[in-house]
Amino acid sequence: MCGIVGYIGTKKASPILINGLIRLEYRGYDSAGISTIEQNGLSIMKDKGRVKNLYNLDGIDNLKGTIGIAHTRWATHGKPSKENSHPHMDNSKTFSVVHNGIIENYNELRNFLLDNGYTFYSQTDTEVIPNLVHYYYKKETGSNQAKFLNAFKKACNDLNGSFAIEIICKDCPDIMIVTRKDSPLVIGKGENENYISSDIPAILSFTRNFYLLNDLEIAVLSRDNIDFYDKDLNAIQKNAEIIGWNALSAEKDGYEDFMLKEIYEQPTAIRETIGAKLSENSKCEFSELNITRDYLLNLNKIYIVACGTAMHAGLAGKNVIEKLCKIPTEVDIASEFRYREPLVDEKTLCIFISQSGETADTIAALKLCKKKGAKTLAISNVIGSSITREADFSIYTHAGPEIAVASTKAYTSQVILITLLAIYFAEILDISNSEIKKLKKDILELPKKIEETLKLSEVVKNFSKEVYQEKDMFFLGRGIDETVAKEGSLKLKEISYIHAESYPAGELKHGPIALIENGITVISIMTDKKLVEKTVSNIQEVITRGAKTLVVTNQNIKEDMFDMTIKIPETNTFISPILSIIPLQLFSYYISKEKGLDVDKPRNLAKSVTVE
Ligand code: F6R
Repeated sequence: MCGIVGYIGTKKASPILINGLIRLEYRGYDSAGISTIEQNGLSIMKDKGRVKNLYNLDGIDNLKGTIGIAHTRWATHGKPSKENSHPHMDNSKTFSVVHNGIIENYNELRNFLLDNGYTFYSQTDTEVIPNLVHYYYKKETGSNQAKFLNAFKKACNDLNGSFAIEIICKDCPDIMIVTRKDSPLVIGKGENENYISSDIPAILSFTRNFYLLNDLEIAVLSRDNIDFYDKDLNAIQKNAEIIGWNALSAEKDGYEDFMLKEIYEQPTAIRETIGAKLSENSKCEFSELNITRDYLLNLNKIYIVACGTAMHAGLAGKNVIEKLCKIPTEVDIASEFRYREPLVDEKTLCIFISQSGETADTIAALKLCKKKGAKTLAISNVIGSSITREADFSIYTHAGPEIAVASTKAYTSQVILITLLAIYFAEILDISNSEIKKLKKDILELPKKIEETLKLSEVVKNFSKEVYQEKDMFFLGRGIDETVAKEGSLKLKEISYIHAESYPAGELKHGPIALIENGITVISIMTDKKLVEKTVSNIQEVITRGAKTLVVTNQNIKEDMFDMTIKIPETNTFISPILSIIPLQLFSYYISKEKGLDVDKPRNLAKSVTVE
């Protein structure tokens, strides 16, 4: 979803800004633009379409400014067009603004400004911001810089909704001001230069020192300094976070696409996520958590709340928590949960899973649970992301930056982390049995088995070539395999645009089997010994009706029944989703490639869904 970049330093800003936008392209967008302060005032260059189109705009090469802001827009208010693209200026061309998020009271503010003689040239909510700042700026006294800061603060106080805002002023060519509320924004500190971005990977090649703003905090960036203020403009101190990721981890590193690279990074992502938390002969360790036996014994339930793929990881979490710890666990989609009047109280532990840590619905669900008195625990891949700053506790997957829109390594890392969490809870509860012992051993062997599974790539690729022109596919499984069916089906939809449905295999007869006809592709996952025979008989039913079948299994089944069997290494059922999803990730990837689609940036999708 929208991306913002900012630069203030001694170099020409425009190429740095465009480069930053290119790195944010994966978030999803429909138009792009930059604004710099030039000798003769503010310049704005913008258009709908791809970021690289900016290079073709008249005058872009003549820009010399060393301070600028930039934006990729994902349309919410007003269609994708040049007028609606950011940056937006006020009527007097004193301020230039980019904004992510939604100003909920923009109609009211727009009417107020219209009554005060302002004119609007776009349909966006954003255009109220520079004009509102100008409205207050005119009334201020003192230095231009003081007027700018005070006017900006007053304008922000009038805004409802979510926002990350960057603003520059032609009267103050040596500062840039930023703020945020419920929308991501990071500040990168360099040597005589400072950067702004919606996320860390876009500016990792410039710095590893980052500052994070809490809601409504304001930062004033100059070339060699950053001042921080609370919402009332009281000065505050902040320490930089040093980020361990390196720039290479945000590059394709020889792979054709980020998605393929990220699929192949899974052995490392899992190793890193396990880290020092687990060894075969000692208790599972989460030093960042402060959870007692009494607290767990008194829980009425655990809620796991997330969206999309992260929610699918939550389903694997429910399986392991309920079976190992015997604590009732519910999984819900954040956008549903928050309006469901969920039964949450101080005896509920609420776990929120979010790769980006910026998903609007998941953050809102977390805030709701906090209000209801529950303890909240965030699982995220991004240190310092909004969700981790809201939650009582945070634990991290260490998957490294995930750039491709379709989540792969973040999902498998989430599944392993929540499995470790379940073991940690079980051990606090003094549950120690051979099942847990065995699971620990299996987890430690998992990275090697992922490497083995990745070797099946060619087989998967060949099957993909046979079926890439299909219009519909079904994904079936039982028990834990059904959660993988869900994730496999989501992956396929997202990047291949093939309609896919996932079903518990036993549910097929209750309706969906009516859709099975000659030639339709049915993919089934069978890793649970107890359920495999049942699933095989369900697949027999679709074979009888002419379906083409692909089976992902680690069991000894009669392979010649199926058109293609992908044999993955055997592992513990609790963690089998981590292996069984890999052929399905590759399947979606190769189908998308075969169809000539943009694997990393599928249509209509955004990496980080920062609006509800
Ligand atoms: C699917 C996918 C999405 C995300 C979902 C939640 O491949 O990436 O379904 O999983 O939008 O995103 P996060 O985990 O950032 O909250």
